[in-house]
Amino acid sequence: MTDISTRLVKPASDIPDGFASLSQGVFHASTIVFPDVASFLHRQAQAHTGYSYGQNGTPTHYALANKLSELEGGGHTVLVPTGLAAAVLVNSMLLVAGDHVLLPDSIYGPTLETTKTLFAKWGVRHSIYPNDIGAGIAAFFEHNTKLVWTESPASNSMEMQDIPTIVAAAHAHQIKVVMDNTWATALGFRALDAGVDFSIQALTKYVGGHSDLLMGAVSTRDEAAYHALRDTAELLGYYVAPDECFLALRGLPTLALRLERQYASALRIAAFLQSHAAIAQLNYPPLPGDTYHHLWKRDFKLGNGLLSFSLKQDNLPAIEKFVAALQLFTLGNSWGGVHSLIAVAPQRAPKTGWLLRLHVGVEHVDDLLADLERALATLD
Ligand SMILES: Cc1ncc(COP(=O)(O)O)c(C=O)c1O
Repeated sequence: MTDISTRLVKPASDIPDGFASLSQGVFHASTIVFPDVASFLHRQAQAHTGYSYGQNGTPTHYALANKLSELEGGGHTVLVPTGLAAAVLVNSMLLVAGDHVLLPDSIYGPTLETTKTLFAKWGVRHSIYPNDIGAGIAAFFEHNTKLVWTESPASNSMEMQDIPTIVAAAHAHQIKVVMDNTWATALGFRALDAGVDFSIQALTKYVGGHSDLLMGAVSTRDEAAYHALRDTAELLGYYVAPDECFLALRGLPTLALRLERQYASALRIAAFLQSHAAIAQLNYPPLPGDTYHHLWKRDFKLGNGLLSFSLKQDNLPAIEKFVAALQLFTLGNSWGGVHSLIAVAPQRAPKTGWLLRLHVGVEHVDDLLADLERALATLD
């Protein structure tokens, strides 16, 4: 018999016979062990599909990646530490010095910022295109345009792009298209079915769903691109912890349920705000009358809880008063969780003034409406 100190080092058996659970097991590993020298020396050969080193994945990572691929309607998924890291990964994998990339004018701010700073420093040029450009995007293509970014609806202004039209124009010039599909998730819009090459999501939002997790994902149906993304993620040192994967896996079974409730509540709230005398403009594409409703109605199957508006009293003291009077919408950044939130941001130029963004949580809609009605009444 070996010494107790030796026996304590030996791992306990992982999945004991006779144990079955509805919960995903959480496997931790940096080191993966191998049965013989040949498999040890060839461990890199299975880095994208099996187990070679913790960074390449454990059963918990693969369980989440596979579920997300299923959600996207097929393909492969790479997990990264944040939603922003998903954007950086696509750019890093695809772009080289001398390339040109296009972004819509309402793209998520930090995605633009990394393009303007890091990728510009590495020799990648970018241009901005108007959201409503449609097939006119072709006029923005240059001989070295490699990638078109899309994000629809945008997470502050809720502006949309015509994704199938942009995909057709880009593919006619052998240009790849990436979509930040965090707003709708693949339950609302199947980006890969629409021809998008790379669908990215901040799992931080609706998949996590409880405001306690940061993670991102890139999904693609292009096998070679999947391997290139995995290689690039490895070179960048990207890694997500299995405990965080567990939280994302825990969010998935209730994703549809949460979105359906948040969408139904947001529709009622949007209709209420649209007809309220204190509101100057409301942005929520699922609501008939919204500037982008025709695109949303044509392409999307499900809405969410995110909408924005401006007040007629478009000044900070009025906004402070309104926000302070709210009891259920708390002031906080990010979105996609079960709690109702409000955020305040300056309008994007050339617009001036302030944008208020609501994230509608899963609280009872009547309570949320009463909260907004009470807070708006303070502006009279
Ligand atoms: C549309 C969109 N994409 C990406 C991100 C980035 O996600 P993360 O905070 O996980 O980096 C956000 C975060 O606000 C977002 O709103």
